[in-house]
Amino acid sequence: MSRNHLIAPSILSADFARLGDEVRAVIDAGADWIHFDVMDNHYVPNLTFGPMVCEALRQHAVRAGGARVPIDVHLMVQPVDALASAFAKAGADCISFHPDASTHVDRTLQLIRDAGCKAGLVFNPAASIDGLEWVLDKVDLLLVMSVNPGFGGQGFIASALRKIERLRRLIDDSGRDIRLEVDGGIKVDNIRRVADAGADTFVAGSAIFGQRDYAAVIAAMRQQLAA
Ligand code: DX5
Ligand code: ZN
Repeated sequence: MSRNHLIAPSILSADFARLGDEVRAVIDAGADWIHFDVMDNHYVPNLTFGPMVCEALRQHAVRAGGARVPIDVHLMVQPVDALASAFAKAGADCISFHPDASTHVDRTLQLIRDAGCKAGLVFNPAASIDGLEWVLDKVDLLLVMSVNPGFGGQGFIASALRKIERLRRLIDDSGRDIRLEVDGGIKVDNIRRVADAGADTFVAGSAIFGQRDYAAVIAAMRQQLAA
């Protein structure tokens, strides 16, 4: 089945001293979404940026013609709810969180949707997807971690492919409009395999921002996806 594939560069690997310019550059290079990794030094052993930075970057997340580019917020924080609300106010389009970081997953999903955002659940490499069927009607996106969260530039964990296959079946069987995103270790040379497993949205940090020519990397990724 052919789906539209989206590429979501993670600004975790961008130059933090020039974040606005980096967001514009990667959009000009062909990014579909901007992936925004929020780390709290509690749920994960690293610390990045909060809602104020998201709000500041929002004005840069636009295409040349003026169309907005969605900001895909990946919360690696605990607790979740207050920050999810803050990111909704800061202009996030989609907010995903790790179910093990929220005491009441259903409530958090509703809170995100009630704030007008799309809601996503994120599964760590060792996380089970049990329980998902009970909230599938409240989810717009499922995000499979193919590295342990906390850092860019790690290697792809192969078992993520089986998890993606399983989630693809679950989504297709449900008939719901749910995106299946993958995050961690995505490169030009493995993106096709991940798409074949069923993913339709690809986060890539170091693969894109680690190269001089962002457009060339994104074009090479699309070429792989189209092949
Ligand atoms: C890891 C983050 C990822 C990360 C991916 O916790 O969620 O989004 O930036 O980076 P790469 O593509 O370098 O593995
Ligand atoms: Zn991420």
